[in-house]
Amino acid sequence: MGFPFPLDASVPLYLAPMAGVSESPFRRLCRRFGADVVVTEFLSAEGIRRENPATIAKLRFGPEEHPIGVQIFGSEPAAMGEAAAFVTDVFQPDFVDINFGCPVKKVVRRNGGSGCLKDLDLVQDIIRAVARSTHLPVTCKIRSGWNEEMRDPVTIALRCQDAGARVLALHPRTRTQMYGGSAQWDEIAAVAQALDIPVLGNGDIKTPQDAVRMYHQTGCDGVMIARGSFGQPWIFDQTRDLLDGRPMRPAPPVEERFRIALEHSAMAAAYEPDRRGAAIEFRKHLGWYVRGLPGSAELRKKLHAVESHAEIAGIFEEYLRGRERGDVPEPPGDEAPQLEIVGA
Ligand SMILES: Cc1cc2nc3c(=O)[nH]c(=O)nc-3n(C[C@H](O)[C@H](O)[C@H](O)COP(=O)(O)O)c2cc1C
Repeated sequence: MGFPFPLDASVPLYLAPMAGVSESPFRRLCRRFGADVVVTEFLSAEGIRRENPATIAKLRFGPEEHPIGVQIFGSEPAAMGEAAAFVTDVFQPDFVDINFGCPVKKVVRRNGGSGCLKDLDLVQDIIRAVARSTHLPVTCKIRSGWNEEMRDPVTIALRCQDAGARVLALHPRTRTQMYGGSAQWDEIAAVAQALDIPVLGNGDIKTPQDAVRMYHQTGCDGVMIARGSFGQPWIFDQTRDLLDGRPMRPAPPVEERFRIALEHSAMAAAYEPDRRGAAIEFRKHLGWYVRGLPGSAELRKKLHAVESHAEIAGIFEEYLRGRERGDVPEPPGDEAPQLEIVGA
């Protein structure tokens, strides 16, 4: 397998790095539902090199998660290099990904994440420092620029390639846009055209059909799905069906969705030492799993109040019993509804 770009999947499907979401339990689930590659949430280089326990805890992953990339962020090339060396030695992922996209104030204030995009010399220094510190392939995830004036994804991507990036993922929004407006897929096409290394398209894939459309419209080499995986990890298998020209398998019916949600919840409970904290953190996933179901407002209200994983099964059972009694209208057709994504 040619990492960081799996050659045995004609169009590799990546689960995007997502803080608080692309954690080990969800990554394992997505791998099982057809994600070819997964990436950790972004982790601070400072936290890693200082061996901050909370940061190190997030580096844990299981053998079934391979191929996996660990994503790091920071603005100090030396610290980024040290973090990459530590991650390589101790955790042995398949590649190290550098975050040049995070728009969050706390991160960009110190020139981390998309803050780096204001200084492309710094971007290159970071990539070189990381590449020198690990034998693993180094990949980058970028936005299209810091703001509209500095919007120039092709130049940024070429500079990443020149400095040694082996794969480049583009989320074609600027930092100033945060998650507003729409992702400019034509920029993915321009970057895919300009670079020799594989380019991953990312942004606004809400359905398997969107993923296939991005692939055909932009000529990207692989597709990276972020919010479109919320509550529907099976989006990867469905996308693969369409890419391979097969009829798309339907989304699981409600009972199966609940079973998957419960399994995900059990994995989260087993992974996190703080069971109550983990259950509270898990509420967002529950909301996503039931989004669009008939009577989901009431169901979500109950799920958003859980304080233990044990409560979840009872709430699902009660919903299904209500549905049997006819208290809850049947979902339209056999398929569970696709998610409406409202930003994050
Ligand atoms: C909750 C959340 C957390 C995210 N965390 C990260 C992160 O840690 N690293 C990163 O590179 N991008 C992160 N992103 C950005 C996504 O990887 C992706 O680029 C963005 O959501 C656009 O893709 P989408 O429209 O398919 O969601 C995050 C996005 C969301 C919604």
